[in-house]
Amino acid sequence: MPLLTDIGLLVTCAPQGAQGDLHAIGGAAMAWEGETIRWVGPEAGMPEEYRGWESESAGGMMVVPGLVDCHTHLAFAGWRAGEFEQRILGKTYLEIAAAGGGILSTVAQTRAASTAGLISRARGHVAAMGRLGVTTLEAKSGYGLSLEQELRLLEIYRELSGGPQRIVATLLAAHTVPPEYQDRRDAYVDLVCDQIIPEAARRGLARFCDVFVEQKAFSVEQGRRVLKAGKRHGLRPKLHADQLTSCGGAELAAELGAASADHLEQISGEGIRRMGEARVVAVSLPLASLYLNMAPLPARRLLEAGVPVAVATDFNPGSAPSYHLPFAMTLACTTQRMTPAEALKGATIVAARAIGLDGEVGSLEPGKSADFAVIDADSVEQWLYHLRDNA
Ligand code: NIG
Ligand code: FE
Repeated sequence: MPLLTDIGLLVTCAPQGAQGDLHAIGGAAMAWEGETIRWVGPEAGMPEEYRGWESESAGGMMVVPGLVDCHTHLAFAGWRAGEFEQRILGKTYLEIAAAGGGILSTVAQTRAASTAGLISRARGHVAAMGRLGVTTLEAKSGYGLSLEQELRLLEIYRELSGGPQRIVATLLAAHTVPPEYQDRRDAYVDLVCDQIIPEAARRGLARFCDVFVEQKAFSVEQGRRVLKAGKRHGLRPKLHADQLTSCGGAELAAELGAASADHLEQISGEGIRRMGEARVVAVSLPLASLYLNMAPLPARRLLEAGVPVAVATDFNPGSAPSYHLPFAMTLACTTQRMTPAEALKGATIVAARAIGLDGEVGSLEPGKSADFAVIDADSVEQWLYHLRDNA
């Protein structure tokens, strides 16, 4: 029955109100029992029943909900630093992909890697995320692109979910078309719909089904087929949408009632309107926009249209080779003009909603998980402005 006292600022991130309403409490304490929060509030008004509980001091530091990284491509082999330089020298992400680099080069390296090697690398990344305050993450497959290899990546996530962080797995078999199907792309979509999705669902390996709707990946029509097949098997839809070109991904997300539409750097006005009506969460990935040197998604227009905007890393070896979620939050402030408060809710309660866990994590309220991070800063603004290691 622990109690945390002397919390300089307890930022609850309760879902009520606008995305910038943090519902913070100064001079606070928090009591929990087992995994579940029983009480949060000003320490001076703490009910008598908690006063004898075994307590620890937060030393005046700030306490926030454990961060939620709702979009990562966690399990992969090999880095692609050479492409980083090629892009600096002027090649585009799509040109590199067309020349056999990009996602497919990671697919080749991942297929050839041992399962033990993939697990140990991913475990190292997850431990580093934990040191940054991340307690929950979503992890996508998508570097296997065959029945056996996609299931292997999802099994790896099942194995890792026994560790300290919550891990939610997403099947992204429709990340791109693998080399052996280049001349029969619809046959690969058949494989995804008829074999990979049903088997991943039968084994209970994924909660979500994702698809990369983009010129060189899958069309809106193919994306619709994949996501509908996922739905039939109980996997909620998610999309990589409108990242490099505006091609109807956001509209498809709204049509299907997706849990989230992610990227959206090139979202259309109509896409914004439709997502607002359907209340689909937009997931902004400012590290990917930074590394690809692209304008970020229009966060202010989305928020004004009533679309909740999450912030995540997109951690992967190509477009976002960093799992630094607080840095992504800082970028969301500077490049997307989200306030620090909006960015924090974006990486907690809104991110939790994007992965269907907003009943459990993402805010510090009675009944929810006692899942929090202690931050060495006196305000959210100070934390995200003076970017540094967390003590
Ligand atoms: O979310 N856009 C597609 N997929 C990843 C990139 C993966 C890669 O480059 O390996 C993304 O940015
Ligand atoms: Fe991604």
